[in-house]
Amino acid sequence: MYTQSLDTDPLANDPKEVSDKRELELKKRISEGYVVEPRDDMPERYRKTLIRQMSQHAHSEVVGMLPEGNWILRAPTLKRKSILLAKVQDEAGHGLYLYSATETLGVSRDALYEDLLQGRAKYSSIFNYPTLNWADVGVIGWLVDGAAIMNQIPLTQCSYGPYARAMVRICKEESFHQRQGFDLLNEMMQGTQKQKDMVQDAVDRWWWPALMMFGPEDSDSIHSEESKAWGIKKKTNDELRQTFIDVTVPQAETLGVTLPDPQLKWNETREHYDFGKIDWNEFWRVVSGSGPCNKDRIGVKKKAWEEGAWVREAAMAHAMKSKGR
Ligand code: 3HC
Repeated sequence: MYTQSLDTDPLANDPKEVSDKRELELKKRISEGYVVEPRDDMPERYRKTLIRQMSQHAHSEVVGMLPEGNWILRAPTLKRKSILLAKVQDEAGHGLYLYSATETLGVSRDALYEDLLQGRAKYSSIFNYPTLNWADVGVIGWLVDGAAIMNQIPLTQCSYGPYARAMVRICKEESFHQRQGFDLLNEMMQGTQKQKDMVQDAVDRWWWPALMMFGPEDSDSIHSEESKAWGIKKKTNDELRQTFIDVTVPQAETLGVTLPDPQLKWNETREHYDFGKIDWNEFWRVVSGSGPCNKDRIGVKKKAWEEGAWVREAAMAHAMKSKGR
């Protein structure tokens, strides 16, 4: 149990000084491996940045169901339909774990959801691109879930217990998501030229937005430094992006697709792939709401929230009745 030690000296209890002292003390405890739990008395800045990141992570999961959900009824075989159903259902579960973990910080799910629906909270920009054909479903699994795994594995060691534990379960399921996407594409790449062309076109459309999932370059990341000091972020945006590129290029070669970056080249000295410039104007344009599908995505979520009101009321009434209230 973490309880901050307040100095007995009355002068030392200047609010600003006390809060700085508590923050420094907790950061030191975290750097020594302390895992913060909901009942710990935590500094407000730590709590707030956790709510920001965890709620946006949850929003990304539930909005992330929409692009692929669009293809469940049009899957080419029963096998592919059941795999896609399982995957989209997993994403809903990931959202629930993460909303529940965020609620342990004293914020309600309704309030979080309202922030999403009113545009006050973000979700991953990748989900604002359209899924034009079946190859997109495979590329989302391979690249988007592949990037998500890269970004989420370090979070299994983050300093906030409920978030870290949610990540362990989520990362296991993401591995299935990535694998099924690669398998789907591999099957198409053994198919007709038209199928191969569909896969290549999808890779061309999703590659750069997938690299943007890791966030802005470290020099433009407003939260990284504090997030690392709180033991939330273990690796920087650029480090994770680079690792993702390094592991994905050989996979693309195995699939037989070309990644749409003429500057992609193994650098013996760096022992990493060099890659081209990311279009950060596109990133911020999509993040700020002007992507191809932003309005549609939020519109669908608002409609679901309104149409689901009766379910929430019925569940609440049942819960109250079963508690004899
Ligand atoms: N899309 C939308 N907004 C983004 C973004 C992206 N890809 N990357 C960064 N941003 C936002 C940040 O939220 C922040 O805005 P805010 O102050 O309003 O929150 C701003 O851009 C500056 O970015 P920073 O790098 O300073 O922000 P972070 O330190 O929070 O880093 C992050 C961004 C790497 C996404 C980090 O928040 C993170 O690791 N989040 C947890 C993982 C996550 O949310 N992944 C999203 C995908 S989940 C998914 O793909 C589901 C899978 O099943 C398909």
